Amino acid sequence: MLLRQVWANLIGNALKYSAKNESPRVEIGGRADNGEIVYWVGDNGAGFDMRYVEKLFRVFQRLHSEHEFSGTGVGLAIVERVVARHGGRVWAEGEPNRGAKFFFTLPRNVAPQG
Ligand SMILES: Nc1ncnc2c1ncn2[C@@H]1O[C@H](COP(=O)(O)OP(=O)(O)O)[C@@H](O)[C@H]1O
Ligand SMILES: [Mg+2]
Repeated sequence: MLLRQVWANLIGNALKYSAKNESPRVEIGGRADNGEIVYWVGDNGAGFDMRYVEKLFRVFQRLHSEHEFSGTGVGLAIVERVVARHGGRVWAEGEPNRGAKFFFTLPRNVAPQG
């Protein structure tokens, strides 16, 4: 249930932040990497400035105005917590107006911790 929420938040963001592109594209992928699996959701939308990447995963921190893109700023904070609880990590890459890519890992044998 919680991992379903992770996918919904990341894919929802990718759709939202690429919707103003003339030809929006969302790419979803995964790769087995030693003991873990790396998943990603990328888009060719509004992107963001890497200087503020740490802010993205904090509650109520948003890099885009409510006027540009509506939202509450809690989705990625939930993503971070759920992934950490399942033993994984999250990170993101972006460039203004060139899109964004969000990654998370899960150990191959997923068991909630704590
Ligand atoms: N796919 C994306 N492209 C560009 N910026 C993004 C993307 N996903 C998230 N962000 C940035 O991270 C912030 C936090 O995301 P999130 O917690 O999901 O909140 P919300 O979607 O409600 O704004 C967003 O306000 C936005 O600035
Ligand atoms: Mg969101």
